[in-house]
Amino acid sequence: MTLRHVVESQQFTVPLLMELFDRSRLMERIVARGGTLDYQNRILASLFYQPSTRTRFSFEAAMHRLGGRVLSTEHARAFSSEIEEEQVEDSIRIIGSYCDVIVIRHHEPGGAARAARVSPVPIINAGDGDGGQHPTQALLDLYTIYRERPLDGLSVAFIGELDRGRTARSLAYLLAKFERVKIFFVSPPEQQMRSDILQYLDRHGVRYELESDIDRVVGEADVIYQTRVRPGRPPRVAGAQRYAINSSVLQRMKPDAMIMHPLPRTVELDKTVDDDPRALYFRQAANGLYVRMALLTMLLE
Ligand code: CP
Repeated sequence: MTLRHVVESQQFTVPLLMELFDRSRLMERIVARGGTLDYQNRILASLFYQPSTRTRFSFEAAMHRLGGRVLSTEHARAFSSEIEEEQVEDSIRIIGSYCDVIVIRHHEPGGAARAARVSPVPIINAGDGDGGQHPTQALLDLYTIYRERPLDGLSVAFIGELDRGRTARSLAYLLAKFERVKIFFVSPPEQQMRSDILQYLDRHGVRYELESDIDRVVGEADVIYQTRVRPGRPPRVAGAQRYAINSSVLQRMKPDAMIMHPLPRTVELDKTVDDDPRALYFRQAANGLYVRMALLTMLLE
């Protein structure tokens, strides 16, 4: 199946997801033996206008494990010609003539789509603005769940600052592709999931509930998908504690629940959770390498 750009998670069909996951399993085996040289003549450019640890490092590691090479700027707002007001379209046209694939994290929703419209090479959206999307995060999230249990019939609780959460938005789109999924959106009312996602779920017959009390859903969900609370944004730290996962919340979860978080975390995920066998977020981040390697092989075919 051909894949030209990765801009939004809705573009993935179930067969395409299964192909990606099969390849990701293969990449786990390839990494275990040190990598491959199959892509040694290929170049990836990573262009990050916002900070990143996991996404940038895992994409760059993925290209290295495939035998390819990497051009990188981790602070493109300061260390690219954006500082001289160059538009992203011009930057992409230029960088695209030096490489085979571009990974872009842009500070505005729609930044990756603008890049894809003019790019001579595949564009991968590594997160675009607040309330945009982060499709490769959603792909690795779904892969992490898929490695543990069937995706049909899953109940998932998204918790946190959902209106601006691009990871939750992208994963909600992917979950809508599976049967009998139930989603709980748990957030202060003023930070609830936006209507564009809710309307999409309505159109696809996906059951969901909007909730502001974590206690009402924590015992029902197979997956607890905690998301970041940004410092300084209401409900600030004291309010954010109402939505935190800690040892007391752990006691009310299903014994086989999966605790996920795209990371980085602040007060919303207590470090005492790390030792619980249900905590999957470090494995989730590690899976990013395999899924991003698999995605690169699909785009570079
Ligand atoms: N999950 C995620 O996107 O992390 P980074 O911001 O570190 O890339």
